Amino acid sequence: MSNDVVILGLGYVGLPLAQEAIKAGLTVLGYDVNAKVVDSLNAGRSHVDDLSDADIAQMLAGGFRATTDETEIASAKTAVICVPTPLSADGGPDLGAVDSATRAVARNLRPGMVVILESTTYPGTTDEYVRPILEAGGLTAGTDFHLAFSPERIDPGNKQYGPHNTPKVVGGHTEACTEAAAAFYGRFVATVVRTKGTREAETAKLLENTYRHINIALVNEMAKFCHHLGIDLWDVIKAASSKPFGFQAFYPGPGVGGHCIPIDPNYLSHNVRAKLGYPFRFVELAQEINATMPAYVARRAQNILNDAGKAINGASVLLLGVTYKPNIADKRESPATPLARALAGLGAKLSFHDPYVQHWDVPGVDAIRVDDLETAVAQADLVILVQKHQQYDADHLASIAQRFFDTRGATSGDDAVRL
Ligand SMILES: NC(=O)c1ccc[n+]([C@@H]2O[C@H](COP(=O)([O-])OP(=O)(O)OC[C@H]3O[C@@H](n4cnc5c(N)ncnc54)[C@H](O)[C@@H]3O)[C@@H](O)[C@H]2O)c1
Repeated sequence: MSNDVVILGLGYVGLPLAQEAIKAGLTVLGYDVNAKVVDSLNAGRSHVDDLSDADIAQMLAGGFRATTDETEIASAKTAVICVPTPLSADGGPDLGAVDSATRAVARNLRPGMVVILESTTYPGTTDEYVRPILEAGGLTAGTDFHLAFSPERIDPGNKQYGPHNTPKVVGGHTEACTEAAAAFYGRFVATVVRTKGTREAETAKLLENTYRHINIALVNEMAKFCHHLGIDLWDVIKAASSKPFGFQAFYPGPGVGGHCIPIDPNYLSHNVRAKLGYPFRFVELAQEINATMPAYVARRAQNILNDAGKAINGASVLLLGVTYKPNIADKRESPATPLARALAGLGAKLSFHDPYVQHWDVPGVDAIRVDDLETAVAQADLVILVQKHQQYDADHLASIAQRFFDTRGATSGDDAVRL
């Protein structure tokens, strides 16, 4: 049996891609090394925020099937690799999953196949790392099979921009490779943007996330001195945002989280250092500033209690929202984790509330989950709004709290202290 595409890695990136391809009528096979993920998908259960069980049922009805059997990769015309690229212990990219997924494709590579890497990585990965593995069996990229990089730009929880209407950047090993990959995505993505080659496509993704990382660091640093100068930064950003050109608003917060913003810029700085021997100073500075925000928020919390004549040691502190972004359940790299550690280190008794999270384990920290939001807010010595989920009416919660620290600029009245 032949499939239009096999998607390797069925997570936050791979599954929405599979869904969009199926909607367009493509035959899609999913491959993952995690048998639990494969079994639950085949049983109609989703494990990512953006897809419901009903979505998975629709995909199965559309012919989707997941497998752990790598020999099935040979049945596909196109193979798209969407596996994780975390950081290794030395801060560089950990290509372990990319390596093993690429080897699985290589063992099942057929002439004419289109192989696309979507995992975020450093410039040169497709050409210097993936290509030699694929070519080891005797087939040549650009001649016998097509090879391209296409960064995933998915924004989990975004209701306006999904896989169909977010333009897809594509860069091939050769022009023919670019065209083959563009033709594949053109079947279900509205706009395909071609780059000169794989390195430009890889770097475009890193520029997007580094740009965000740096601008968040800028407002985070401003938040610190605006507080000392008695300036309301949220009001400043609102005013600056009225400029219809040349300004894009970014907001301060308790730190950056998720799988992309705190991690991807490191691929670039690590690569610049490793290849050229000098630092990418913007990234390193942004990293330093954003990484200090949880400790800064903990210190501000301590000061708020101190102003009321209370010690943080023994005080009850309730955290609202522990995910890395609003209205989703993803806790990866959430700044709530280092914040909880810092508060617990100061002796605070922690509890948390999050409508999307049932279990939250922070090693070494005892944080009890509360269900009754209003009672918990009224009882805590200090409430910290860490994530502004849509379920939170921040002004109302601030009005019933003893002390309310708003790290997201979600309140408008005088009942809260804002970051
Ligand atoms: N999550 C996002 O918002 C986002 C956005 C843009 C880009 N990305 C990038 O996309 C890539 C994938 O991220 P994700 O969030 O989908 O990860 P994820 O952890 O949600 O899913 C990855 C899946 O890949 C599977 N996997 C691991 N090794 C494998 C292998 N050798 N073969 C097949 N499957 C394997 C895992 O079991 C898992 O199910 C990363 O490089 C990430 O940086 C993620």
